Amino acid sequence: MTAQLVHDLELPTLNTIGLERLEALAAIEDARSEHWLARTEMGYCVTRLDDVTAILRDKRFHSALSLLPQMAGLPETTDAGRRRQSILSMEGDGHARLRRLVAPAFTPASANRLRPTMRAVVTDLIDQVAGDGECEFVSDICEPYPIPIICELLGAPPEDWKLFSGWATDIFRIFNGALVEDLPFIERAADELTAYVSDMIAERRAEPRPDLLSDLIAIEEEGDRLSTEEMSMLAEATLMAGTDTTRNQLACCVALFAEHPDQWALLAEQPELAPRAVEESMRYLGAVRATVRFASEDVAYRDVLFPQGTIVSTALAGANRDPDVWEHPNEFDITQERGTAQMTFGAGIHFCMGAALARAELQEALPLLARRMPGLARNGDVTWKPATFGIWGPAHLPVRFDKV
Ligand code: HEM
Repeated sequence: MTAQLVHDLELPTLNTIGLERLEALAAIEDARSEHWLARTEMGYCVTRLDDVTAILRDKRFHSALSLLPQMAGLPETTDAGRRRQSILSMEGDGHARLRRLVAPAFTPASANRLRPTMRAVVTDLIDQVAGDGECEFVSDICEPYPIPIICELLGAPPEDWKLFSGWATDIFRIFNGALVEDLPFIERAADELTAYVSDMIAERRAEPRPDLLSDLIAIEEEGDRLSTEEMSMLAEATLMAGTDTTRNQLACCVALFAEHPDQWALLAEQPELAPRAVEESMRYLGAVRATVRFASEDVAYRDVLFPQGTIVSTALAGANRDPDVWEHPNEFDITQERGTAQMTFGAGIHFCMGAALARAELQEALPLLARRMPGLARNGDVTWKPATFGIWGPAHLPVRFDKV
């Protein structure tokens, strides 16, 4: 049987832009009930867990991150067009080599070494608001939480965390859907970060320390060479991929628990539920709801031909509620043993490199918060970031809780 051209198929239309989070999930569910594939404004979208996984594991589909400048209408002559590649957008042997080299720095064991720092940072943040019985959870807890941890991972002094925070905020503008206006901020932040990291690398060449950059330099000395530029790209990718994601995911988790006070109380009583609480909240309300690929060649998948260049989004949020996979997908229950892995860290060659670190950050923060903020409830409306944001969550989350 010859594959049918995707453009010729009769498909449901899926447009989640501008929809509230529950409306977006309902739209995905409607589309999924009609067909495994949907037509979107950008191209196509898969919404079932098996298709999402298959597309992300299929090496003929490449990350669409490299297409962002072009999709935003930027001329190829701009710096953004020429910028060096990021691990997030690389493919093939070059990508596999980098993943292999840096994997030892991102194991659960190396994440565990940072757990005392995580506990100290979150305890300090809670101390600052605990006496008030209320806070703006996003700016008071989520925003400052991940940066000192990434600073420690990289080996930057804690007093520089504000610099890193500013660079991260500006570099993240890349995902906000207004690349043409945001480009000057993005480029300036990326250049400053590169200069800072290059200095750090020079210092560590002279005097190694127990941190990520020294580990990367040690790798270089064992034969396979990581250039200074590659190391600095990895530091930038770690900062970029490792801060806003964690912030937003923590805010998503807490917004969700504020709607489920019984589960919050349970987590306070049984902190050993933390790993399951993290997986269940990431399944139910993930900060990364989709990731985008394009066909790098003509690809036949499930008897459908995707011509070279076709954009295919993979709806991680849809996969996380696929009724063919999950029992009671719309129930949030941190006590339930779920047999399938949640999809918010992606899949395939770009599967989140910082998953162990992110899991540790959330597993440390959530039970501490539950214990120190009993009776958590919303203290006003939650404002959600626009649906166009690739890394998404509450923009404002006012909460109140019992003073202890
Ligand atoms: C809860 C927090 C996080 C979430 C939800 C998350 C989610 C993701 C997802 C979905 C991808 C795959 C993107 C794609 O397929 O296009 C990814 C990749 C990546 N993540 Fe995370 N992430 C989180 C935290 C972190 C942290 C803490 C770090 C680093 C310290 C990190 C580093 C990376 C890197 C370097 C990649 C690129 C891997 C590659 O392309 O090979 N992430 N993340």
